[in-house]
Amino acid sequence: MVERTLVLVKPDGVQRQLVGRIVARYEERGLKIVGLKLVHVDRALAERHYAVHKGKPFFEGLVAFITSGPLVALALEAPNAIGLVRTMNGATKPAEAAPGTIRGDLAIEMGQNLVHASDSPESAATELAIWFAPGELLSFDREIDRWVLGPQS
Ligand code: RTP
Ligand code: MG
Repeated sequence: MVERTLVLVKPDGVQRQLVGRIVARYEERGLKIVGLKLVHVDRALAERHYAVHKGKPFFEGLVAFITSGPLVALALEAPNAIGLVRTMNGATKPAEAAPGTIRGDLAIEMGQNLVHASDSPESAATELAIWFAPGELLSFDREIDRWVLGPQS
């Protein structure tokens, strides 16, 4: 099933100038970028995004980190995009992330793990609505889709 998922290249990714390389990984895999923007979020939006973690000991640090500088929000589309992107990002703790994943190749610490991705269809729907207005997500055909997704695409 074709899915859309939210990815954030978090402030550490922007500061380390890894945006292009991280976005390129998703593009090279064949995922379609259907939304993209650079934003410096305020506390209110950060708290909505991390609402599931409210009350946990790391919540305050997480909100402080995500609001500490600009980040890049991406909406990506593909069959099974939610699971696909989670696998590409790698384990939450970079030390446990497999080589070949973004965290396994580019990160060391859990607090500086470069990327966020939605973890279920429900969180994808909620998060895409938090980060993008309806008109900011585009639907369009790509000439390459028959080569990436097959002749029926
Ligand atoms: P993400 O939401 O960023 O894609 O990461 P995730 O699903 O793999 O991890 P999640 O459990 O949703 O946690 C969100 C972010 O919070 C930080 N974290 N710190 N100190 C801790 O115990 C702890 N646990 C999580 C990580 O930066 C994680 O990406
Ligand atoms: Mg998460």
